[in-house]
Parts: sequence; C-alpha cells; structure tokens
Amino acid sequence: MYLSPRFRAFAAGAALLAAGALAHAQSLPNVVILATGGTIAGAGASAVNSATYAAAKVGVEKLIAGLPELSKVANVRGEQVFQVASESLTNDNLLTLAKRVSALAKQPDVDGIVITHGTDTVEETAYFLTLTVHTNKPIVMVASMRPGTALSADGALNLYDAVSVAGSKDAMGKGVLLTMNDSIESGRDVTKNFNIKPSAFVSQWGSLGMVVEGKNYWFRAPVKRHTMNSEFDIDKITALPPVEIAMGYEGVASTAIDALGKSGIKALIHGGPGNGSVADRIVPSLQKVRADGIVVIRSSRVPDGFVIRNAEQPDDKYDWVVAHDLRPQKARILAMVALTKTNDTKELQRIFWEY
Ligand code: DGL
Repeated sequence: MYLSPRFRAFAAGAALLAAGALAHAQSLPNVVILATGGTIAGAGASAVNSATYAAAKVGVEKLIAGLPELSKVANVRGEQVFQVASESLTNDNLLTLAKRVSALAKQPDVDGIVITHGTDTVEETAYFLTLTVHTNKPIVMVASMRPGTALSADGALNLYDAVSVAGSKDAMGKGVLLTMNDSIESGRDVTKNFNIKPSAFVSQWGSLGMVVEGKNYWFRAPVKRHTMNSEFDIDKITALPPVEIAMGYEGVASTAIDALGKSGIKALIHGGPGNGSVADRIVPSLQKVRADGIVVIRSSRVPDGFVIRNAEQPDDKYDWVVAHDLRPQKARILAMVALTKTNDTKELQRIFWEY
C-alpha cells in the first residue's frame, strides 16, 4: 500500500511521541488515591464560602481530572472508598479503609497510596493506619480546610503535594504521613489545632519535613514503632473493641463514667486537665470501672506535653494506664488496637510507651 512521504513522516512522528509518552509514564511512580470524603471533596455555594459548604460531594475522578498537574509527578488512579464527612466515620469504616490500604500496598504495581479525608478526624485515621498497616511504601493522608469552590482553596496544592510525596522513595519507611499547607507531618503526632484556617495542623514534636514544588525536605524521623515495626497487623484484626472517652473539668460529675462503665466498653479514656488529673470525687467511679474489668487510661486534655505515671495519681495502686503524649482521641485509637491483643495493664503500658 502506497504511503505518501508526508504521511510516513507524520506516522513516524506520532510513533516517536507515543514512545516518549510511554517512556515518561514508565519513569513515574504509580500512586493510588483512595477518597473518603471531607472538605477536600466539598463544594460551597460561592467562591467566598470558605467555611460554609457541604463536605463529601465531589468524587475522586473529578478531583483527579481537576488537577492535570498530577500527571507530572505520578501515574494516578482513584478509588472512592467512602463519601462521608470524617466526623461520621465509624470503626468499621476504619477497618475497611485499612484493609484496602494493606491490600494495595502488597501490589507490586503500587508505589504509594494517598488517602483524601476530612480534616476533623484525619489524625485518628492516620494513627490507626500507622499502627496496623505493614508496609514501607509511603501512605500519605491529605485533606483541606477550604472546599475547591472557594477563593484560595488549599485542596489542590495539598493533593499535588500528597501525590508527590507518595511517589517519593525518600518518604518510605517513615510511617503514615499527612501533607497539609506545605508541611509533612507524622500521622502519629499530628493534630488539628485550629479549626478554620489552612495552617490548621501541628505536631507537638515538630513536622517531619516540608514539600515544596515536588521536592521533599526532611528534618526529623519518627522514633515510635509504626507500620513494618508494629506488632499489630490489620490483616489479622477483624473487629475493634469499644473504647470511649470521658473528659475531666471543674465540677465534673461521675454521670458519664458511671454510664460508660455499664455500656460494655473494654477501656475508658479519661481526658483530664493538667497531667491527666482526676477529680477526687471521680476516683471511686473509675475504681469501680476498673474493678469491673474495664481498662482505665489517663490522658490529658492539654494540647502539648505528656502524662507522667504516679505523679499526682497513684496509677500503680489503682492499676491505671497512662497515655503518654497521646491526646484522648489518639489514646482511644491505640487502646482499641492494643486490646485486640491484650488487656494486661503492664503490657498495655508498654504499648503506650512504645507507640
Ligand atoms: N466535616 C469535616 C470533615 O469531614 C469538614 C472539615 C474538613 O474536611 O476540612 O472532617
């Protein structure tokens, strides 16, 4: 069949372009984006609605299509695991998500995983994953404080950064990460510290690093056990035991503790003021809870610092566990995971020191 020189030239050029595109794609890491909802998938009525909007409206395919720059840093594909505001996630949601992450991490064609999530409880999901998913591959949580419809929305750059970090070899082995507002935070340490601005997240022991224009700058590494070095494995966890929280404050009554003690929980987190202090009138209720076989864990409502054992409370005498530097919501995550293996208080205290 006769082919004109012009056509042959065109065909050769097209073949070269295709080969070049294939070579480029093969040179990029493969990153899977698991979407769960939140503001990063939110939509507001107008561009000036930076705080008034509906979370969990935009699907993962639209998030990816709206950010073509992702193709510069990775080959991405998306899965919509849930579409919920994170304050409404359940223990079963946590198990479903973690098992999906674990399965994908085992796939040789997956180099990294990004999870889009609401900011309200991303710190809890991040800690749960770092405790239970056995992989060295980067698992990067990402969220946003403003919906994509708002002026100066933060989601697009946060997502670009997350995909870039998830495809980075130097992000391996650092536990589950969170990229927000140019920072790379440890999933264990990070917490939402301000509820209505893009610089919302802090880690009391400092960020692990920063990501700027697709390059990671590291300043420290986690020292607590995580992922491959964790004794907990999501592939062996089928259910999470119920653990609840009761806060401590001036004038507190024992109502919440007494009710929770009868609700079938396996551990009670007490989020006290100061060094996890317990009002003297509450001690008998906590002792009753302990006597009924429920583990009592003292945490502190104070943002920074850590609870010291046997300081103002006789933990040895009451057989209580202290939550170290974990805020009540994180202490609950570790308690649920730890109780899948043991309810021995000495073992639990070891676990709270090590994780
Ligand atoms: N409902 C909150 C959540 O899904 C919205 C906050 C956000 O994602 O920034 O966590």
